Amino acid sequence: MRLNWHDYSYYPYERELAVREAAALFGGPDLREIPSGLEVTGGKGAKAAERLTYFAGGENGRGPMETLQSRLECTVRTSRPRQATRYSVHGLHEYKGKFNPQVAKALLNIFEIAPGRRVFDPFCGSGTTLVECAHAGVLGHGVDLNPFAVFLTNAKLQALVTPVAHLRADLRRLSSSPTFRRSVSVDENARIRYLRPWFTPKMLDMIETIRIAVEGAAGPSAPVFLAIASNLLRDYSLQDPKDLRTRRRRTPMPRTPFPEAFTTACERFFDRLESAQAVLGTCLPQGSAKRCDARCPAPDAGPFDAAITSPPYAMALPYIDTQRLSLVWLGLLEPDGIRSLESELIGSREFGGAARRTVTDALQENADGLPDAEAAFCRRLQDALSEQDGFRRKALPVLLYRYFALMRDSFRATRSVMRKDAPFALIVGRNHTVLGGIRYDIDTPSHLAALAAQTGWKLKELMPLQTYRRYGYHVSNAVRAETLVVLANP
Ligand SMILES: C[S@@+](CC[C@H](N)C(=O)[O-])C[C@H]1O[C@@H](n2cnc3c(N)ncnc32)[C@H](O)[C@@H]1O
Repeated sequence: MRLNWHDYSYYPYERELAVREAAALFGGPDLREIPSGLEVTGGKGAKAAERLTYFAGGENGRGPMETLQSRLECTVRTSRPRQATRYSVHGLHEYKGKFNPQVAKALLNIFEIAPGRRVFDPFCGSGTTLVECAHAGVLGHGVDLNPFAVFLTNAKLQALVTPVAHLRADLRRLSSSPTFRRSVSVDENARIRYLRPWFTPKMLDMIETIRIAVEGAAGPSAPVFLAIASNLLRDYSLQDPKDLRTRRRRTPMPRTPFPEAFTTACERFFDRLESAQAVLGTCLPQGSAKRCDARCPAPDAGPFDAAITSPPYAMALPYIDTQRLSLVWLGLLEPDGIRSLESELIGSREFGGAARRTVTDALQENADGLPDAEAAFCRRLQDALSEQDGFRRKALPVLLYRYFALMRDSFRATRSVMRKDAPFALIVGRNHTVLGGIRYDIDTPSHLAALAAQTGWKLKELMPLQTYRRYGYHVSNAVRAETLVVLANP
């Protein structure tokens, strides 16, 4: 059988994953690279080929075939030959730090996760892994501490199993409901007091009207509609939508009235979803996400056959800032809960006062019992600080120590819900910092591997993903090189 590449250009790691996928799905065939793709001799038949990620299709004795991935990507292709990443429900909402869906799908194949098996994502974010699990007939379970991430993931999973005809009918009912265009006057409460400075009075009335109408008319698909509206929220607010922090906007507001923009966004999403449902159907296993700390996964979870995640970064972007309006507007968090959510997240920089002093003491004595090399590295950074370092840099060694300790706890918790021998894949980038005028590279993937080993995981491999770029990051913050860390539960 011949397998053909897609027409877009590939990063070297994608070709590497492509060959591994083919080897796993075909069950030990002879593989020979040819200019158009791969020649496969022996192993299992063409059915397995349908599940490949990095091939458009192939030809065997019985004629040509197309992969499901190619059919999905074609539904959102533009004229430029580029890998599409917003197919199916992936484009429902922006989420900073969202990872590449093809990698998640390829890993499911490489780990030979057959339909009906169970996969865990301890930092599920906006649900990329769980969506790819559903596409592959796999039951995905995720946790995230951020209620907005949990909301988005569940909205995507709900959309996948809701026939688009139902969503269109809901939208018609919604647009014709008397409340949709008639502004409500909003009751004063903590939620509204938080939102008021960030919207014109007319806009605040309008978004509240739409929220109330959706909650009244859309039944179980309400989260899908609310996610679509939430994706427009910052554009229609007085915050600068391009700023990662909450600063007031200097750019003009969009001209299209919000209800029209919302209806258009719904229709665009439904068109994509409809094309995806034509490929996948709607009878997919419905995984779910729960709000939970990855350091203590829900007791009813597991055992899982694999875990796939992109964990938080050692010094994460302040992405809660870009989600504040949605968190409060959707009623997912009281306004006074934002700061504590920020400080609880692993990798957060928003962490000060007494808690910071406690961790500073812990760092000196390695009170958390981190592996010697990781504790020594944090102390080395601490010793390298000089007067010329600003307060953010001064905080770095302590933040890194805390990150290591919390990630180590999450490795322990994840291991407790995995089957024996189950693989755990993490995609994570390296960092660097300049302290006292000297550059220090922070090899986060290797540190994480050491922390995982301390909790009993076995390192299988570290594979560089050369020019992997997360979509969703602002370009200046884009993480350019990441590493795939693969662990196994011995
Ligand atoms: C890099 S993002 C994951 C992105 C995800 N793979 C996607 O495609 O959307 C890391 C996630 O870890 C979550 N997180 C941080 N600390 C956590 C904790 N203690 N428990 C669970 N989730 C946490 C953050 O809320 C964030 O959603």
